[in-house]
Amino acid sequence: MNVSRRRFLAGATTLALAGATSARAVAPSAAAPGPPALRATRAAARLAPPDYPETPIWGYDGQVPGPVLRVAQGERLTRRFVNELPQPSTIHWHGIRIANPMDGVPDLTQAPVPPGGDFLYDFVAPDAGTWWYHPHHRTWEQMARGLYGALIVEEPTPPRADRDEVLLIDDWRLTGDAGIHESFGAMMDLSHAGRIGNWVTVNGAGELRLPVKQRERLRLRLVNTANARIFILGLAGMEGWIIALDGQPLDAPAPIPAPDGRITLAPAQRVDLIVDVAAGDGARASIVSFERERDRTIATLEVGGLARPERLPAPEALPPNPVPPLGDLADARSVVLRMEGGAMGGMREAMLDGRMMEIRELVKAGRAWAFNGLAGMPREPLLTASRGETVRIAMVNDTAWPHAMHLHGHHFRRLGADGGPGPLRDTVLIDRNETAEIAFVADNPGDWLLHCHMLEHADAGMRTWMRVAA
Ligand code: C2O
Ligand code: CU
Repeated sequence: MNVSRRRFLAGATTLALAGATSARAVAPSAAAPGPPALRATRAAARLAPPDYPETPIWGYDGQVPGPVLRVAQGERLTRRFVNELPQPSTIHWHGIRIANPMDGVPDLTQAPVPPGGDFLYDFVAPDAGTWWYHPHHRTWEQMARGLYGALIVEEPTPPRADRDEVLLIDDWRLTGDAGIHESFGAMMDLSHAGRIGNWVTVNGAGELRLPVKQRERLRLRLVNTANARIFILGLAGMEGWIIALDGQPLDAPAPIPAPDGRITLAPAQRVDLIVDVAAGDGARASIVSFERERDRTIATLEVGGLARPERLPAPEALPPNPVPPLGDLADARSVVLRMEGGAMGGMREAMLDGRMMEIRELVKAGRAWAFNGLAGMPREPLLTASRGETVRIAMVNDTAWPHAMHLHGHHFRRLGADGGPGPLRDTVLIDRNETAEIAFVADNPGDWLLHCHMLEHADAGMRTWMRVAA
């Protein structure tokens, strides 16, 4: 029955479009269903206020953010990535403990997809939570132009909430007429804080507005999709709990400290909140970004009416994901990653392409940082782990800048000063002159990147990788 119906529709579509456009574009997709496509393409979006023109962007399916992809935990996600950009690209599924060939890292896990090319991403999502996707080729340019989206893996039984809102927070560098500033890869950004912008959006809007009711319970999934800005967020007129960090459930919901508890979200980090609207009918609740220049309201919740007479009881913890527990830390393979360079860092030289270079030569080659003395992607991995081994990496930030270090394919725990492991994360913010030691079970075979998610830093030297034996 499907066949004849499809044929009928295909015929009808062809007929309807025959006069207007060529039927050639219609026929193949009507004939071959196949996996759904996800297209990276040029488009325009209204990012700035109405008195500005639209912004020419690059977006997945022509949108900023790209479509929210949803899949049930343990299910398969399949998308045919179609590259309609003028540059090669790939998709990286950030935070998903994925099979290595699907990880989207050019020259490490796949060849970059050329303009006009496509690539089939097909993987199982083992962990429920808030993940996201973005390119991994010229990431500092492609993400700054708008290529990113959320990937939500749903729990079999989600926590009680009246609604579930995904909020992707981005920091754009716009020109005076709302174009994307073309200053990609400027050495000033590479060697300092990265590309910090001048316009903040939530889901592409300068100030997101959501109508809500008093005592309504929301699940908010916040994602920092900025190239480099660290967001310090505050909630006003809402009370609630942090239930997950970087997609992974906390053992117990942690109350957001009142009033105006600050939530730090480094580039690529996520936080899942359960909040109850405390502001009364006719009032407003808001999410505020505290920035050096000013405090900026990035989302306004306009309260109209009452959801229920009493507040709901506190939420329970989300069920944990199947991440293996850490083995004996005393026995673990242990390596040091020394982070050096950047402005005011005093780095004099580093190795690049097998040659020791002085800082002036490095800068000419677009490099400003080094990991263990190497200013480029090393030929040899930082470490090789056997499968199932517990690994510790002590990341020593010997620079004058904070860095958001992200490990692919695994989630780690930061070892506290008292030695106790913290919550599972995939991206850790390390302050200047701070050391963060992380530990994880290397259970996912393949070659995995470890890099700074301040994208300009990654490009300018802050990248390495590890190998997990099959
Ligand atoms: Cu979110 Cu290597 O990336
Ligand atoms: Cu960095």
